[in-house]
Amino acid sequence: MPAQQKALLLKSKKGQFVIEDISVYKPGADQLLIRIESTGLNPADWKIAEYGLFREEYPAILGFDAAGVVEEVAEGVQGFAKGDRVLFQAGRDNSASAFQQYALAEAHLTARLPSKVTFDQAASIPSGLNTAALGLFTHNITLDGADLYPPWREGGRGKYAGKPIMIFGGSSCVGQFTIQVAKLSGFSPIITTASPRNADMLKALGATHVLDRNLSSNALPEEIAKITSQPLEIVYDAISIPSTQNAAYDVTAPDGFLVLVHSEAIDASKKASHPEKNVIVHIGASGRGYEKGDRIWRTLTELLEEGAIKPMRVEVLPGGLAGVLKGLELLKNEQVSAAKLVVHPQETA
Ligand SMILES: NC(=O)c1ccc[n+]([C@@H]2O[C@H](COP(=O)([O-])OP(=O)(O)OC[C@H]3O[C@@H](n4cnc5c(N)ncnc54)[C@H](OP(=O)(O)O)[C@@H]3O)[C@@H](O)[C@H]2O)c1
Repeated sequence: MPAQQKALLLKSKKGQFVIEDISVYKPGADQLLIRIESTGLNPADWKIAEYGLFREEYPAILGFDAAGVVEEVAEGVQGFAKGDRVLFQAGRDNSASAFQQYALAEAHLTARLPSKVTFDQAASIPSGLNTAALGLFTHNITLDGADLYPPWREGGRGKYAGKPIMIFGGSSCVGQFTIQVAKLSGFSPIITTASPRNADMLKALGATHVLDRNLSSNALPEEIAKITSQPLEIVYDAISIPSTQNAAYDVTAPDGFLVLVHSEAIDASKKASHPEKNVIVHIGASGRGYEKGDRIWRTLTELLEEGAIKPMRVEVLPGGLAGVLKGLELLKNEQVSAAKLVVHPQETA
């Protein structure tokens, strides 16, 4: 094991990214030391850097999604061995983040990779899948999730057969995993919005109907009414900009649940006229409500092996960790469609 590694440091709040040498960590209780082979990029990475969100200690290391090889297993950790290929939810703090060559993974947020899934594919999964799962299946007392019964628990597969679900932004990372867990839960029809060019790919994941994301707010309910006459009790807005939130609120059934992934921006007058709709703001792929949502990690290896959960299409950026800067620019300019950008930290010069 090397004593030093390369990491991409955000030097100060709203500051610059710089690649520097830092020490390799020692795993503590429930932890694994991972040599990161592939790191996935998220819109949250550029938002944290540009707006100074979430992190208070600098320099900060960002990056939420990673896959690699177990180098060291802390004493007492069960189920993992040196050399295992794994994916894990990164991003809690510097030592656990993915924009570096080695990181500490929490064993209960880590899963072994079936041989058919590459490191690049695996790096597309953790945050998107966690956000989808936590938004739908976390208990709603904290207004963190819609409190559905998860498909990875006994009797959960197909439990919502015959119930419709509407997912705004199906081709986003969060949207693709929401479609897949909705399919496992048996929802039907699974209606989503996206650019028409992505329709076939989303149908292959489980969407039954793909509506053009540019339909007007008047045309959208008309198109939904042609597909189902049932009320939409579960609506997931994987984009959660003001326009999608308002459109999503309109189509949510009275007493239904609308799951958002950003702070609420629904018109006050709209809410006042339909106050009975439940709006859930789910923030943080590894935040509140985790005890229930993390159960997916115990079955993720089997779900991947079975093909019940499929990774995203990936685009690999050159230059190791230096490639993150180009990737964050592409995400910020909305130049990424239905794909996860990944970098290879070990290729950092
Ligand atoms: N709360 C949380 O814990 C949490 C966790 C993860 C992400 N997020 C947030 O969730 C959002 C999505 O993240 P992500 O990583 O999934 O994004 P992403 O994969 O980078 O999203 C890109 C996709 O968004 C789609 N899109 C953009 N605007 C749309 C619209 N108005 N209607 C429908 N689709 C639209 C595009 O679809 P087409 O290419 O088909 O046009 C594109 O494929 C981000 O704002 C992110 O910050 C929140």
